[in-house]
Amino acid sequence: MSGDLEVRDLHAHYGTAHVLFGVDLTVPAGTTTALLGRNGAGKTTLLKSIANAEVRTSGSVRYGSTDLRALSPYRVARAGVQLVPEDRRIFTRLTVRENLRLATKAATPERPPVPVDRIVELFPLLGDLIGRAGYALSGGEQQLLAIARAMVGNPSLLLLDEPSEGLAPRIVEQVGDAIERLQSEFSLTVVLAEQNSRFAVDLADAVCVIDGGRVVFDGSAGEFATQDAVRERYLQV
Ligand SMILES: Nc1ncnc2c1ncn2[C@@H]1O[C@H](COP(=O)(O)OP(=O)(O)OP(=O)(O)O)[C@@H](O)[C@H]1O
Ligand SMILES: [Mg+2]
Repeated sequence: MSGDLEVRDLHAHYGTAHVLFGVDLTVPAGTTTALLGRNGAGKTTLLKSIANAEVRTSGSVRYGSTDLRALSPYRVARAGVQLVPEDRRIFTRLTVRENLRLATKAATPERPPVPVDRIVELFPLLGDLIGRAGYALSGGEQQLLAIARAMVGNPSLLLLDEPSEGLAPRIVEQVGDAIERLQSEFSLTVVLAEQNSRFAVDLADAVCVIDGGRVVFDGSAGEFATQDAVRERYLQV
């Protein structure tokens, strides 16, 4: 199951708070879009809305021929969509291996898990830490584990919420390398929400900037590079 991600006239609400206002976004299959915007712009809300988790939406979110808004979060995962949340949510008392094995349990025949050994080949650093408990991992190692765990679910669309947040530059580089490896080996479609625009744009084909819950720029990474005014107005640069 794969195809383009198409978001049309998406509105999102938390209770009575209206947070996204008619967002349109197309991410062609196999490409990466950097989703940029300052604090509170609506990046996390857009990713949650795509995954149909924790937020009430109207409008349309289609992935290939599937209407994601009609599916429970569990079925969204079965449709090949995995969200790696900002707070990572790994099991800190379980080891790296146990965290990865647990993710294989959610698999179904139509979407068999990627074997843990294969994941460890893709994330060699985790291989060295395979018996270590989650609480004893650094922030960057936890981030790699969160991405690796999502990959166990064999997604075709990966939604990453600020994977570089709080990480030292050297570790950010490792996270970026891991994302690049996944892009090329799994021909993944990726939406990468980031405050760190340089990191995200380097990994992206296209850029979408949101502000106040509205899209204010949508174009190729090359076009974005020429948009000094967009960067100055809507991003912390
Ligand atoms: N659970 C919630 N209940 C009510 N309002 C919320 C909730 N979560 C987020 N919001 C509001 O929705 C708006 C968008 O928040 P969101 O988390 O999507 O922004 P963001 O772009 O991800 O920001 P950041 O860069 O800080 O992560 C903000 O005004 C925020 O206060
Ligand atoms: Mg956020």
